[in-house]
Amino acid sequence: MNLALFGPPGSGKGTQANFLVQHFGIPQVSTGDLFRAEIKAQTDVGRKAQTYMDRGDLVPDSITLQLVRRRLDAPDTERGVLFDGFPRTVAQATELDKMLQVMGRRMDRVIFVQVPTDVLVDRLAGRLTCPKCGRTYHPKLAPPQLDTVCDHDGTALIMREDDRPETARKRISVYLEQTLPVLAHYRQQHVVSDIAGTGSIEEVRERILRAIGVPSAAPAGMSTGGPAAGVRLAGEGPGGGIPPSEQGGASDTETPGQRRPPGIRPSDHGRSQGAGHRRRVRGR
Ligand code: AP5
Ligand code: MG
Repeated sequence: MNLALFGPPGSGKGTQANFLVQHFGIPQVSTGDLFRAEIKAQTDVGRKAQTYMDRGDLVPDSITLQLVRRRLDAPDTERGVLFDGFPRTVAQATELDKMLQVMGRRMDRVIFVQVPTDVLVDRLAGRLTCPKCGRTYHPKLAPPQLDTVCDHDGTALIMREDDRPETARKRISVYLEQTLPVLAHYRQQHVVSDIAGTGSIEEVRERILRAIGVPSAAPAGMSTGGPAAGVRLAGEGPGGGIPPSEQGGASDTETPGQRRPPGIRPSDHGRSQGAGHRRRVRGR
């Protein structure tokens, strides 16, 4: 099963990915994390990527796609992948379609996590990140058990350079201009689920599971999808400059939970997809 978490910076993609990879037994492929690993290893790719990331700009497609191709060659991706922060341009989405097709696969579901811009800025301004495992925390919204270390591995938490308010705002505007149009690409494939990314981390998780078609353990009456009442979404209205038709979109609004990824039954989650899915991307 191939899934993508799609949404603006700070919408909670990484937070939700932590749970989903364990639930479905598929690896997370976060291009942001791949770039940060290259920067840490001081590779040429890392040096190039850093100049763009420090400004809040997108890294060029050629560099991004090179890393994703290499990642999809690893055996742990055979059962599928959870993409986080990729694809981010229409060109990346088109290339990903081709890569998946070569492997006999397709994008099964794109979860569009929607959060108002003012909430995004607050979340990013306080975010604490584990440099070792990538888990994220927030002193008020999602505090670690001990003030400044990761619950998972005890590493000292850091603030990401690109979370400075000016850079975070630039990333949000880049998202609105260059990444939001990717949704139309996937709406044509009828694989987009619109999810409200507000509320608790657990509530958002429940909405995502329902969108994927997994029976929810949520208590009766809990909201399970769609923008929360009164919530102004990133890109909505005069501030974002994006027409409503390009955000949630009327063309592909199924009720979360009603539609499953093609060929996926709840009992299939986490199982091998068979030999037909083992072809590699490299060497094409
Ligand atoms: P990347 O690392 O992908 O960053 P991003 O997309 O900007 O997203 P973030 O990681 O900032 O946010 P998130 O949605 O993961 O939120 P999180 O879960 O941490 O990319 C960084 C850079 O790399 C880009 O700017 C670009 O330069 C480059 N890049 C990456 N991919 C690229 C690509 N494909 N093409 C070109 N360039 C690329 O949550 C945020 C905070 O909110 C946390 O503190 C968390 O605890 C808190 N939180 C989460 N959920 C909730 C909730 N429900 N309630 C309260 N708090 C919450
Ligand atoms: Mg992230």
